[in-house]
Amino acid sequence: MARLTINGAPVEIDAPADTPLLIVIREHLGLTGSKYGCGAAMCGSCTVHVDGAATYACITTLGDVEGAEIVTIEGLSPGGDHPLQRAWIAEQAPQCGYCQSGQIMRAAALLNENPNPSRDEIVDAMSGNLCRCGTYARIVRAIQRATQEA
Ligand code: FES
Ligand code: FES
Repeated sequence: MARLTINGAPVEIDAPADTPLLIVIREHLGLTGSKYGCGAAMCGSCTVHVDGAATYACITTLGDVEGAEIVTIEGLSPGGDHPLQRAWIAEQAPQCGYCQSGQIMRAAALLNENPNPSRDEIVDAMSGNLCRCGTYARIVRAIQRATQEA
């Protein structure tokens, strides 16, 4: 039994310690915003926050996060109105959408650390999150918009 906090709520998970955090989030807790892409720390579609840090949930195990605070896209803001989420809508950033929860969570971790990043800092910080639809330019614009409106 592992205890952790998901989106502000304490939870107990009865699963082996080597269960991937992404499986815990999606299958044990039913939070399906975080996506399975590669399963190998190569795409970023599974990105969540672990104690504030953007983290690949596919290669993080339940045992790794005992006692940690996890935030998923469902918990980023109560009404889906985080400045990044508003900017994502304004810039129409998604295409198919599959990668976008991870993109937003990665961007949110960046802005928590650096509220006013340069374009180069944004591109560098986002480099671990891939988008097969190639929405990169709109993602950068959305992050820049969010920094202006936050
Ligand atoms: S599914 Fe986790 S990095 Fe691709
Ligand atoms: S919007 Fe389709 S993979 Fe990024």
